[in-house]
Amino acid sequence: MATPLRIEELRTRAAPLDMTSDQFRSLGHDLVDRIADFLTSVPTHPVTRAESPEQVRAALAANRMLPEEGGDPQALLRDTAALLFEHSLFNGHPRFFGYITSSAAPIGMLADLLASAVNANVGAWKLSPMATEIEAQVIRWLAQFIGYPADCGGLLLSGGNMANLTCFLAARAAQADWDIRRQGVAGGPRLCIYASTETHTWLQKAADLTGLGTEAIHWIDGQPMDLENLQVRYRQDVKEGHRPFLVVGSAGTVSTGAVDPLQDLAEFCQEHKLWFHVDGAYGAFASGLAGAPPELKGLESADSVAVDPHKWLYSPLEAGCALVRNPSTLRNAFSYHPSYYNFDGQGLNYYDIGPQNSRGFRALKVWLALQHAGAVGYRKMIQDDIALARYLYDLAVDHPELEAITHHLSITTLRYVPQELPAGLGLEQTEEYLNELNERLLDAIEKSGDAFVSNAVIAGKYALRFCIVNFRTSTKDIEAMPQLVARLGRQLHAELASSIAKIIESVPEKR
Ligand SMILES: Cc1ncc(COP(=O)(O)O)c(C=O)c1O
Repeated sequence: MATPLRIEELRTRAAPLDMTSDQFRSLGHDLVDRIADFLTSVPTHPVTRAESPEQVRAALAANRMLPEEGGDPQALLRDTAALLFEHSLFNGHPRFFGYITSSAAPIGMLADLLASAVNANVGAWKLSPMATEIEAQVIRWLAQFIGYPADCGGLLLSGGNMANLTCFLAARAAQADWDIRRQGVAGGPRLCIYASTETHTWLQKAADLTGLGTEAIHWIDGQPMDLENLQVRYRQDVKEGHRPFLVVGSAGTVSTGAVDPLQDLAEFCQEHKLWFHVDGAYGAFASGLAGAPPELKGLESADSVAVDPHKWLYSPLEAGCALVRNPSTLRNAFSYHPSYYNFDGQGLNYYDIGPQNSRGFRALKVWLALQHAGAVGYRKMIQDDIALARYLYDLAVDHPELEAITHHLSITTLRYVPQELPAGLGLEQTEEYLNELNERLLDAIEKSGDAFVSNAVIAGKYALRFCIVNFRTSTKDIEAMPQLVARLGRQLHAELASSIAKIIESVPEKR
């Protein structure tokens, strides 16, 4: 029981976390100044310092105990900014081309601060009236931007994995002709899914998490997905007592940006009454733009689409989005009405149509950035990224030491091929050698700090993968790449080839 004295003290409560408005203002101004300087200086820093976990932990003093006493917020913010600026990988660097992580829109950074200040819980309309309506507007705008029906349902999630999983659950509930939410997968026949082997691993996670198991995914060879293989497999599965319910098409695969024949897949699904889902986490934003593959067009016929504003809308992490043609399918997949909620009957409650209950205000950064650049600005940025990826491909074609492998959307893959390979290598060994050389080259590029790329394995070839979802990348950044790859490639080849030559000499029978 609290003593009367203690209760008396709390009449004017001074909590250790609170700040006066003057203190907040001064700390905020100082932090914004630091961030502005940091953003200006990013291009002059290495993309990453490629430090070891030990080095990063040492900088953090990772082993120190939780402080018993609180500290000075000014020093905390100053030191933390320095810690992050000095020991991070900068995906906002113009030469960051790894994975599908974009440069973050500055207005999105400010939006996150504003969103935290309001701290809306966008789980229920009553708890977040304006934030809920802003999110609903973002959903309509995103649909409009990619050419999907604007009266669709949808919500924002943490990223592509969760957006695709959400659509998967909507499909599962809509397609099972038993009460799968109550009885689980054991309540009916074996459900199965079709997807190309290039589909992102969100699909394995979804099949696993939803109890279907990864064997429920019936992989269809061919990239883009081969429709004939799909038809043959479907007929065989139906004969064997499977219950196909879902076809997943990729609008931009994670490795190369290739697009499945979406219109054909949509027609196949209509014919067989299957749910058609498009993973457009990366590529859907290019739909309808000049220079984008016409196959993207079919996404407007999908039952659901996942799109990630934190990929090609340059939103700061995290922001993914699930869109469904029929809004009630989300409610049918997620709705529960606990007695401890008093939210019914007033506006849209996002907790009712998705996996989260408490939800942050992710929509604000997307909403503000969409208005800052406008649809025209976005189309231009995306088209510029595509043009730069194409330019890199063309430069690789013309370079005597580079092999251009693929270009789709804003992803180009290439590899370093020395003009002279070690004598005595057969075809298979040459490919093995090139794979090893390029794998090492990937690390060498990262360590150089001059660029950051990721990799893709294409028909057995280990390729360097440049993904440009970066509004800071310019022509000169792209023009520097062939030279960087060739220079580091040559160095590595000189080291590797001499050791290989020694091996070949010492084991002549292995030739
Ligand atoms: C096509 C595709 N789908 C899904 C994902 C998963 O997205 P996230 O990492 O945001 O969960 C990615 C990530 O790169 C992707 O490229």
